[in-house]
Amino acid sequence: MGGCRMAASSRRSSSAPLPPALVEELATGRILFASTEFLELSGYPSGELIGRAAAELRLWADQKASDPVLAGARSTPVRASLRTRSGDIREVLVAVQPGAGCALATVAVPVENGSRLHEIVQSGKLFLELVENCRDFVCVATLEGQVLYVNPAGRRLVGIAPDADVTGASLGDYYTKDGARFVRTVVHDRLVEQGFFHGEVQMRNPGTGEVIDVEMDSFLLPPQTPGDPPLVASIKRDVRETRRLQARLAQAERMESVGRLAGGIAHDFNNMLSVVLGFTDLARGRIPAGHPAAADLDEVTKSAERASLLTKQLLAFGKQQAIHGMAIDVNEVVRGLERTLRQVAGDRVQVEICLSPGQSVVSADPGQLEQVLLNLVANARDAMRSGGVLRIATGEEVLDDEAGHREALPAGRYAALSIRDTGTGMDRATLERIFEPFFTTKRPGSGTGLGLATVYGIVRQTGGAVQVESAPGKGSEFRVLLPRTDRPTPRSVQPLSRPAAAKRHARVLVVEDRVNLRILVERCLREAGYDVVAAESGAGMAEAALKADVLLTDVALRGPSGPEVAAELRRRAPRLRVIYMTGHDPEAARALKPSGRLLPKPFKPEQLLEAVRAELDDAA
Ligand SMILES: Nc1ncnc2c1ncn2[C@@H]1O[C@H](COP(=O)(O)OP(=O)(O)OP(=O)(O)O)[C@@H](O)[C@H]1O
Ligand SMILES: [Mg+2]
Repeated sequence: MGGCRMAASSRRSSSAPLPPALVEELATGRILFASTEFLELSGYPSGELIGRAAAELRLWADQKASDPVLAGARSTPVRASLRTRSGDIREVLVAVQPGAGCALATVAVPVENGSRLHEIVQSGKLFLELVENCRDFVCVATLEGQVLYVNPAGRRLVGIAPDADVTGASLGDYYTKDGARFVRTVVHDRLVEQGFFHGEVQMRNPGTGEVIDVEMDSFLLPPQTPGDPPLVASIKRDVRETRRLQARLAQAERMESVGRLAGGIAHDFNNMLSVVLGFTDLARGRIPAGHPAAADLDEVTKSAERASLLTKQLLAFGKQQAIHGMAIDVNEVVRGLERTLRQVAGDRVQVEICLSPGQSVVSADPGQLEQVLLNLVANARDAMRSGGVLRIATGEEVLDDEAGHREALPAGRYAALSIRDTGTGMDRATLERIFEPFFTTKRPGSGTGLGLATVYGIVRQTGGAVQVESAPGKGSEFRVLLPRTDRPTPRSVQPLSRPAAAKRHARVLVVEDRVNLRILVERCLREAGYDVVAAESGAGMAEAALKADVLLTDVALRGPSGPEVAAELRRRAPRLRVIYMTGHDPEAARALKPSGRLLPKPFKPEQLLEAVRAELDDAA
């Protein structure tokens, strides 16, 4: 073990990166260790290399000519052809150095970087360089876990000072309780029986208590002199970031597919609700005031409205809600909603609002952003049943390439909206599921589990991300990042509702392929005094268009789409105004661009009439 002991000095690692390297068992050719750099170069995960021989893997393309061991490479590096996992051939320069009697180190560098290899080989310190510069945790210990050596990267990982003498310390101190038990039993037995172990275990930094998931390769080093106890060399790789990314990706994929499903159902549902709401209103208009059926119809309307709220949330989650993106100042949205937010938070919760000036103009739908705020504040309140502090803050966050990659966002400047509470907090299992639609920990009837799904859908659709930090008993912080825009905010925000539509004689073309919805729209318009021409497609409407004022069309028609129909009719009748009725088509927002109004489904007759009226007003 002389080689390893020599490496036990706590020399600081040099800044030059470690070249790709393998350690092979002299007697069998089994690979005992592969540096991260070698894994990157060869494309192999360590689990597929450790314990197998290079020859078995056909790692060197032409065994005789290019196996560096067979070719007798030593202080003079030889050229060799490395076969990567995908079968590509990489030309490398290879040097081999015998280790402490039991192992061979093979270092391979791409031909371009050959001079670095000469340097290392000439200094005769290949093993030392290898271990001290390795980015992984490398240690040597007795089979019972008494530490002999830990390399600089290992010391950094578990919080051992660079110059601390760890000889004789117990390796068990650097594992979690479960981790230590696993190593004492399973890993120990595997080492004794097979000579090596590959698997995952949890380490910990005893100073900070931080838990570190590592992938570990351990192998027995045969005693140098007979009678010496065997030693164990161990290489551990921090896999937390990889696992986090994998979990995020899996979650994003799950959300994507659930979103598609939810959006699809909600879309059809919206159409049916339009019909229910519309015909109920018409029926109410036909019975005298005070008729006993009026109260029943009110109940139908109320339920349908509740259902429509639910569908809206599902559409937002499925990222299929039509968005009205405009330049808005997040600070203004918070200010405008302040009273409501305080009401939602309730008396027991102290609300602090901390808006940092400027840097908060984003391109988003103001109504949707309000919904995000309301949902997050309602959750915070629910987490602070017996009171607490709710802090709403805004600021800016700059994501570099790496941070952007983590959030699946392009690098750039983002406005940050933070909602922090001092409530119950969440454990890991809850945190993993909070964005799933219908996931709730609340009593039946007090939560639908759509709040955060809606937030997620809206924020992703706006090009942002939601970050969450929470721990049981420690409260929670939700941070919403939204891409900033340089567009100026409009001076005044349009009032959300317009005065009720008054009758005005004009002609309206209706194109809607769902019969009952078409009949409903037609009837509403006629009763309001409009001339109506209705059809299931744009075919044969050209003549009528010349005499019409407004075209009211669905966006997703079975034949040519609403925008196509509108474009065609407008070519003939350029003054024709257009209103698109839409459940969820993202296309709608784009179709709106040249000119055209959006009427989101489900709508009530008065909303329909308001839209037509507003379009006629604009035309005048
Ligand atoms: N600030 C928070 N503190 C603690 N737990 C939270 C917080 N926000 C969300 N949660 C947890 O996430 C779950 C899902 O939240 P979500 O807003 O999606 O649904 P909900 O609040 O249960 O129901 P809904 O919002 O539809 O009424 C909650 O049931 C709760 O367990
Ligand atoms: Mg909620």
